[in-house]
Amino acid sequence: MYRSWIAAAAATLLAPAFAMAADLRIDANAIFKPIDAASVATAVKNNDITAAKIELGQKLFFDPRLSKSQIISCNSCHNLGTGGVDAGPTSIGHGWAKGPRRAPTVLNAVFNVAQFWDGRAVDLKAQAKGPVQADVEMNNTPAEVEKTLNSIPAYVTAFKAAFPSDPNPVSFDNMAKAIEAFEATLTTPNSRFDRFLKGEDAALNDVEKKGLRLFIDKGCGGCHGGVNIGGNGYFPFGVAQKPGEEILPAADKGRAKVTHDAADEFVFRSAPLRNVALRAPYFHTGSVWTLEEAADIMAKDQLGETLSKEDLGAIVAFLGTLTGDQPKVSYPMLPSRTKDTPRPQ
Ligand code: HEM
Ligand code: HEM
Repeated sequence: MYRSWIAAAAATLLAPAFAMAADLRIDANAIFKPIDAASVATAVKNNDITAAKIELGQKLFFDPRLSKSQIISCNSCHNLGTGGVDAGPTSIGHGWAKGPRRAPTVLNAVFNVAQFWDGRAVDLKAQAKGPVQADVEMNNTPAEVEKTLNSIPAYVTAFKAAFPSDPNPVSFDNMAKAIEAFEATLTTPNSRFDRFLKGEDAALNDVEKKGLRLFIDKGCGGCHGGVNIGGNGYFPFGVAQKPGEEILPAADKGRAKVTHDAADEFVFRSAPLRNVALRAPYFHTGSVWTLEEAADIMAKDQLGETLSKEDLGAIVAFLGTLTGDQPKVSYPMLPSRTKDTPRPQ
């Protein structure tokens, strides 16, 4: 009798907590999606993902010989050991040149609506051709890359295996497709937030749940939604008030350069927030070094709200639950050069 009274009292006391978690989960599932096999399978278009392509793409991602200097690989700026980004603020490329923007992460990039801060590349295969040629990145040419790959017999064999029905398998286009296949494996499932979305109440503590509630109710989720908690749409940076010149310099007009529409000045793709705690500094200028400050700027400049220190802390705690299982990538052995391989320049 006594025992059952305690059990009933406990159930009454705990019921609101369970109900609150259930409501929070319903609200969250209306805005966000966990990473699962289905989300990955539908993310890549016009490129069959095969084991042979993934293996080749992994080698290419790590191969500095795709760059003119032969010392810069994709991994130089998208280091898979540090959340898929470089040290920042903006990337250092060919000849120690400093680019104008922060490297966004390649982790989960497959889920973004389009690639780059301004969405100018429609997908990962279109994107991969950019950095190889950009003068402030790898500064190479498609012809030179094809010459390099053709000079290395193990690459020729690997391209034939990855593109068996293509009469010209060793091509710049196929390089990009293989890299896309590898990048599609760079997802980070099973974050504590994903586990909460799928029904595990205890995956988030009370402060993190409060942060999630604030993230939804204050309106952050309106721009940072979907499977990548962002990366799913374009928004003006500075809706309520414009951030300072060091965060939003006048020279970078964002999406207006892509659409040639003045209405798109200072419009950027909302940043995807998965694993965001792993990759300071923040924003396309890499000008903000803590998540507290980044969230504070977002609240003030996007929502016109000054959040209390406690609420900001809760939001930052919630953002920390977006860190998922990092892909287990082993450093590939790269096939050796031959006498025909172009020399570094
Ligand atoms: C953007 C992949 C090489 C710096 C991106 C994005 C991807 C990517 C997928 C878009 C991510 C997103 O929009 O969320 C690659 C691959 C490379 C490579 C596959 C090798 C072929 C490099 C190198 C550097 C670099 C060597 C640095 C020197 C950047 C920067 C951006 C970017 C600064 C943002 C540019 C902008 O938005 O205008 N890269 N990257 N990347 N990457 Fe790379
Ligand atoms: C970037 C969080 C509200 C649009 C970011 C970043 C964080 C963040 C941490 C930087 C991520 C990175 O650099 O990797 C938040 C929080 C919000 C919020 C906590 C609520 C308090 C919003 C809203 C919008 C928005 C309401 C749209 C109106 C963007 C855009 C970027 C961004 C466009 C990229 C800015 C750039 O070009 O550098 N957000 N956000 N955010 N957010 Fe938010």
